[in-house]
Amino acid sequence: MERPRPASTTTARATLQAATDAILAVAKGPDPLERIRAVLRDITDRFHALGALVHEEDDDEVLLHASEHLTVYHITLSPGLQYPAHNHLMDALIGIYRGGETNFMYPVAANRLLAPQRHDVVAPAVVHLPSDAVHSVANTGSTRSGALHVYLGDLPRARRQLWSLQTDRAEPFDNDRYLAGARPIQE
Ligand SMILES: [Fe+2]
Repeated sequence: MERPRPASTTTARATLQAATDAILAVAKGPDPLERIRAVLRDITDRFHALGALVHEEDDDEVLLHASEHLTVYHITLSPGLQYPAHNHLMDALIGIYRGGETNFMYPVAANRLLAPQRHDVVAPAVVHLPSDAVHSVANTGSTRSGALHVYLGDLPRARRQLWSLQTDRAEPFDNDRYLAGARPIQE
């Protein structure tokens, strides 16, 4: 039998579900990138005004939705950790509502990574990553960050790539290896 969740967790789940539903409502219509960007901007500002993480689990990533046209994660990055470089092969919109996320953006030549450019983003902000972007995310702050990561396609089913932090060679993306590949920030 499933244990009843504490009221605060139930409320947090309902808040995240409502945000996901609002994004989903515009994802299938015309000009989804710009319409999702506008909805995510509004959600990001409202979540930022709460002054706390909407929801927190042991895992840094919680998958809220995945379908043919849309994937949504709630991401709470642990401070001091950097995740392996990867691509998405679809447009991504990141709505950072608490703390900050640092993006290391990698130019790629012949499937190998070149020296990255660092972009520090502080909440509240919405960032767009084009479908060919290769990035590595990190939380360079001292507390857990909070963000919604929105992808314009079915990210869990995408045949995409991962680059470990030790090598600069591409390998098929695997979520367990991705999560296990997190390292203290080096760059
Ligand atoms: Fe990513």
